[in-house]
Amino acid sequence: MEDYKNFLEEILISKEDLQTRIAELGAEISKDYLGKELLLVCILRGGVFFTVDLMKKIDIPHVVEFMAISSYGAGARESTGDVRVTLDLQINIRDKHVLLVEDIIDSGLTLASVIERLSAQHPASLEVCTLLDKAARREVDVPLKYRGFNIEDKFVFGYGLDIDEFFRGLPFIGVVDLDKYEPAD
Ligand code: PRP
Repeated sequence: MEDYKNFLEEILISKEDLQTRIAELGAEISKDYLGKELLLVCILRGGVFFTVDLMKKIDIPHVVEFMAISSYGAGARESTGDVRVTLDLQINIRDKHVLLVEDIIDSGLTLASVIERLSAQHPASLEVCTLLDKAARREVDVPLKYRGFNIEDKFVFGYGLDIDEFFRGLPFIGVVDLDKYEPAD
């Protein structure tokens, strides 16, 4: 994989702006869930970077669990909606206050499937917190309680979001210049 600087069009959201917004979200969540037992469910893999930083800004007792989802048609850049759980929750979420944490919502198909699956386990509440919302691409409605940033329909990477699995660890969200980078099919 080449250096991302070869195809970085712009830094869309800086490290500082990400951390400022995450602190605001953490404060809001702390207030809303005060007195409740909060269970964060991080959707791997992209959501893990946001989840870890968000947890540092939530100042009420909370726990975290992880789920991994995979769309059928590996290698596809877009969700098919035909999702499968590759790592399931290890606990019973009945009567828990569950907050799903995602890096980005695009078509909404992944989260719609997760919500349907978790709802069947009768949590006390089930809400969604996403760092990025690419609403222009939405195919199914997903109820979002917390949203970090609305973004346009651009190919973004960094801070959890990958380009062919690379660059998840960058501290900012960048935009790919598609004239300079040809994504693999
Ligand atoms: C991304 C993201 C969401 C999903 C959003 O995951 O983390 O889970 O796509 O797309 P949708 O709204 O169209 O369903 P991806 O499948 O790229 O997996 P990853 O987190 O392991 O990179």
